Amino acid sequence: MPARILLVLVSCALSVVIGLVIARGGAGVTAARQRPLIGLSMDTLKEERWQVDRDLFTAKAQAAGADVLVQCANSNDATQLQDVESLITQKVDALVIIPHNGAAMAKAVNLAHQAGIPVLSYDRLITGCEVDLYLTFDNIRVGELQAKFLTDRIPAGGKLRLVRIYGAKTDNNAKLFKQGQDNVLQPLIAAGKVEVIFEDWAEDWKPESAKKITNAAITKNGPNFDAVLASNDGTAGGAIQALTEEGLAGKVIVTGQDADLAACQRIAQGTQAMTVYKPIESIATKEAELALKLAQRKPVVAKDSIPNGKMDVPMVLLDIIPVTKENLRETVVKDGFHKEADVFQPNQP
Ligand code: BGC
Repeated sequence: MPARILLVLVSCALSVVIGLVIARGGAGVTAARQRPLIGLSMDTLKEERWQVDRDLFTAKAQAAGADVLVQCANSNDATQLQDVESLITQKVDALVIIPHNGAAMAKAVNLAHQAGIPVLSYDRLITGCEVDLYLTFDNIRVGELQAKFLTDRIPAGGKLRLVRIYGAKTDNNAKLFKQGQDNVLQPLIAAGKVEVIFEDWAEDWKPESAKKITNAAITKNGPNFDAVLASNDGTAGGAIQALTEEGLAGKVIVTGQDADLAACQRIAQGTQAMTVYKPIESIATKEAELALKLAQRKPVVAKDSIPNGKMDVPMVLLDIIPVTKENLRETVVKDGFHKEADVFQPNQP
């Protein structure tokens, strides 16, 4: 039996009832060690959420009895591959990867498997390989909520003129957000109720790139549009900078995602209209629990799956919550994600 993860569909009947069951082949490498060792390879710490992911994941895994090694690749595929190679050399018992480029990291998964190490894809899907498990939020639903927020605001008898800013082309999530947005927008575009006046992908999710896209939209069309469908809070921030320079901030509706503190402050102040809150505590806690199980070669149950070009990857999906000025307090504040004083009385420069 190869010393790599084995995906065992215990039986059709069983998988219908309880989902996919993952078991682990090989002896594992924990024997010589007191505590299992988990490697976390991250794309970036640029967005605030990833710092929270790192800290909570590490704390939860440590509290459950594991040690964690963290690497961050700063949006560079070659660096991320080296990071994974280094974690393999340090004989981690399980690897958790947040890929910069979902396709490029297939190589990392194959290398880990050759070393008998199971790999979990954290929040972003690794494509074209037999990655063992994928844990994420409902990304298509994120896109649907963003678009629905805007289409609920189509003026009576009129239409909504829209700038669309997608995320990084290298991130499978960016495609899922777009897919969710398209689900809502396409029928309304066909009916003439929504017009996309400008659209582009923000390189590596950079706010500067989103600012440039918004500037280009204004240069091409003038200030004559109603909304910016920004796919996350970072890109929303870039778009709002451009809108501010044109005196349009607060007049144009801007969406987002992540409930970053800066975005929640903008929502409180009225320059951003909504965000999507993805409770990081739930993904980090669940990921730590599942990574530990795989590190200990225990079976894991996943009710859903998603095709990644090579296989149907067992998937665990987590819930999301749309946030506006009306429910900031009952969501992010109540959850302890941000403090009320930080959201509503920010120290503005
Ligand atoms: C995540 C978002 C994040 C974006 C940029 C996406 O894959 O789902 O939460 O804002 O990456 O890091």
